[in-house]
Amino acid sequence: MLCYDKVVRAGAIDDVLRDEVELNKIREDIVKGCIYIFNSGIDKLLLERIRKYLISLGKNSLPVYYSIHEGCPNFHRVNHWDPRSHVRGCFHQFSFFPWNDDIFKFFELFKNVFYLKNRLSGLPETSFLSSVPEDGCVARLSFQYYPVGGGALNKHKDPVDYHQLTVPTMLLCQKGVDFHKGGAYVMNHLDEKIYIDELSDWGEVTYFNAQMVHGVDKIDPDAEHCWEEFKGRWIALFAVNKLASSNRISNSIDLGS
Ligand SMILES: [Fe+2]
Repeated sequence: MLCYDKVVRAGAIDDVLRDEVELNKIREDIVKGCIYIFNSGIDKLLLERIRKYLISLGKNSLPVYYSIHEGCPNFHRVNHWDPRSHVRGCFHQFSFFPWNDDIFKFFELFKNVFYLKNRLSGLPETSFLSSVPEDGCVARLSFQYYPVGGGALNKHKDPVDYHQLTVPTMLLCQKGVDFHKGGAYVMNHLDEKIYIDELSDWGEVTYFNAQMVHGVDKIDPDAEHCWEEFKGRWIALFAVNKLASSNRISNSIDLGS
């Protein structure tokens, strides 16, 4: 089983995107189980504005769910241990697709994060980012809020296939400030949890092999669970997903809590 190897702090995404030799080395390291943390270069004040905007959406509109299909709307949904999910969890998710415009122009703002994901996956940098699906897949930007009092995601593995090697995440909070216990982890060869939120800060992006066993331990499990407070762990997740109509890629595998 693929296990965590080591963490490498790697500087700015912009610099690596121009360095083919460095890209190849990072790709080989990630295949073997290394975690890379990059500086996105995006201003924290802008990221805080985005978080406030999402909280406003979450407080003032009803959650709803759409399957991923060409042209589907942006939406936000609450997942409260929904048994229909491939990986069970407790979080509030705000999803955006490249065929919809939005007030922050998210796919322009975060394009370098997707470009690096694609390059590390051996793909042209703009793959899956156009306004139509490619090879049955599309980029999806999801902001995820894990509430204090039990927000979590079961231990799991995500598919590595023609569409991706890694699923980057950007931290939009700080452990020790927004929450104190739990958070994202990967498993090492001793079957121990390495808590990666403790290694990263606002606006930094973490890349690792999606086949590595990982999850989110309950956020401040002793705190009162209150969805509408929007207190807890916030991240942005840079996914490439198959359309609901496609069977070409296997699903994520839930390995329990
Ligand atoms: Fe995952």
